Amino acid sequence: MTNTVVWNDTVAPGLGRFLLSHRRASGRSSGDVITRSNARYRRLVPGQRYGLSSMSQAGSREEAAIDALSATLAYVEDFPAEDEALLAARRRGAEVGAVPIGPAGGAALRFLAALIGARTVVEVGSGCGVSGIWLLRGMAKDAVLTSVDVDHEHQRLAKLAYREAGLGTARTRMIVGRALDVLPRLTDNAYDMVFCDAVKQEYPEYLEAALRLLRPGGVVAFDNALWHHRVADPTCRDSDTRAIREVVQAVREDERLVPLLLPVGDGLLCAVKRR
Ligand SMILES: C[S@@+](CC[C@H](N)C(=O)[O-])C[C@H]1O[C@@H](n2cnc3c(N)ncnc32)[C@H](O)[C@@H]1O
Repeated sequence: MTNTVVWNDTVAPGLGRFLLSHRRASGRSSGDVITRSNARYRRLVPGQRYGLSSMSQAGSREEAAIDALSATLAYVEDFPAEDEALLAARRRGAEVGAVPIGPAGGAALRFLAALIGARTVVEVGSGCGVSGIWLLRGMAKDAVLTSVDVDHEHQRLAKLAYREAGLGTARTRMIVGRALDVLPRLTDNAYDMVFCDAVKQEYPEYLEAALRLLRPGGVVAFDNALWHHRVADPTCRDSDTRAIREVVQAVREDERLVPLLLPVGDGLLCAVKRR
């Protein structure tokens, strides 16, 4: 029987792990998961049939539902095509442990930046440049990305990625330092967008900083808002998960914000600062 479940293992690794453990628990082999790095991977295209009926024959209704969800999420992640510059930056990010935002999350950042005509964006956690490229591709042509990272080597690789993506050095202001030291030095009400993707336990403090930095109508976004399925699981109480839950709740309840939680990649929490 041909199994046509597709999973993109470059994104949402938590769901990948969840699905693998589910399959192990249910006696199905981990080889059932098809990934980009797996010879059986095949690209999902609109209108193509994915053989979900064969999945339901293979196991219980629950397994079929999980397989269908997996295929749908993979389809969403596969929708925004990444070019060689993004793929190379993604590879380097994985190599050095600066896990990049997934393609759908990146496309959401580009969309948001384009939607609000962003000219000034702060990024907390440059990594190796994946999110920066997506942001810059949505921002105005002469707009500047201010990107903060504590790691010199990551910023060197981010600059390489921007160069490979054809983005000139005038488009970026790279700052090496700890986010909580750098953010207080940036100007109040001066930014169209703030994207946070560094230390999870510091997310609540990044939100405070973002509320100060953003102009009215500006957008804040946090990657990993679902944190490998831990945020939605009440039995998970580690400090990263609790900090992310805290910021999700704060964004939802803050009357200065219009909140949105997107289930792309590992979750993208967004909000507009009301005018
Ligand atoms: C998940 S990676 C960022 C990935 C990047 N946003 C992307 O999508 O390509 C997190 C980054 O945060 C940086 N980082 C860790 N602690 C930090 C801190 N205290 N202040 C600023 N950056 C920090 C790491 O060096 C790493 O490059």
